[in-house]
Amino acid sequence: MSIFEQLFSLKGKRALITGASSGIGRSIAVCYAEAGATVGVHGTQPHKIAETIRQIEEKGGSAVPFVANLGTKEVSETLVDEAAAKLGGIDILVNNAGTNRRKPAIDVTEDDYKTLMAINLESVFWLCQAAYPHLCKSECGKVVNTGSMTTLTGIGGMPVYGMTKAAIGQLTKTLALEWAKDNIQVNCIAPGFIRTPLTEAGIFSDPKKVKFLDHRIPMKRGGTPEELIGTALLLASPASSYTTGQVFAIDGGFLAGGSWLD
Ligand SMILES: NC(=O)c1ccc[n+]([C@@H]2O[C@H](COP(=O)([O-])OP(=O)(O)OC[C@H]3O[C@@H](n4cnc5c(N)ncnc54)[C@H](OP(=O)(O)O)[C@@H]3O)[C@@H](O)[C@H]2O)c1
Repeated sequence: MSIFEQLFSLKGKRALITGASSGIGRSIAVCYAEAGATVGVHGTQPHKIAETIRQIEEKGGSAVPFVANLGTKEVSETLVDEAAAKLGGIDILVNNAGTNRRKPAIDVTEDDYKTLMAINLESVFWLCQAAYPHLCKSECGKVVNTGSMTTLTGIGGMPVYGMTKAAIGQLTKTLALEWAKDNIQVNCIAPGFIRTPLTEAGIFSDPKKVKFLDHRIPMKRGGTPEELIGTALLLASPASSYTTGQVFAIDGGFLAGGSWLD
């Protein structure tokens, strides 16, 4: 076996990826399948799930669809139970499903607050808890959480989203500490501004915001979902066997700071 295969192969692994019907989750799903995993492709919209599975199968990979509208403990538990039954177990859980409602704190409604908390944070907690017994049975369990730059810093205009993603950082560290004894590694990816349906509306479609990003991001552009998959693969693979409780920013240098140089 080549060193590349020893470190990065996911052959024989079973991965449940939430929010794999679109954007970042779809790219991770296709990547994991190409690396050899059988992938549970979760989303809410069957036709989008089917498109991810089509892309996986086109590359010779294997995938199973899961439809679930996340937001409660019960839905999280049912999704994990179904995935474990249909995949034959769970070695890798990627908590990627998420949404945003961009508005200043003063305009946030109770519905905005409850929706973001339920989808971005509470569901992730219950998914992790439900997946734990299955991850324990794996020879090396992996949890990969999708955080955000707001896991690590403040960004005005999305206060509740930022709260949920900051808490994902705390959850990542806590579970890493509690589950290290079970050989389960828990890590978090913190994407910068990545071009997906979530950011197309309201960010990349707004010339003023694009101008701001081109100025503020050292690499002078937003990222693509494909630019996250290297780190996502690292954190699901044997290459990260001694890496846990960490948050990895993939942000074109945004969090490194700012500079007055061109
Ligand atoms: N794009 C960025 O710049 C960026 C930056 C930082 C962090 N993130 C995070 O990355 C993750 C993926 O975002 P994305 O940019 O790839 O967005 P996206 O293309 O809109 O994908 C979001 C995914 O989450 C699923 N989802 C949303 N609400 C759900 C619910 N209530 N129940 C179940 N699934 C639900 C969607 O399923 P359906 O489409 O089937 O409804 C979709 O698969 C999110 O956690 C987001 O916060 C994104």
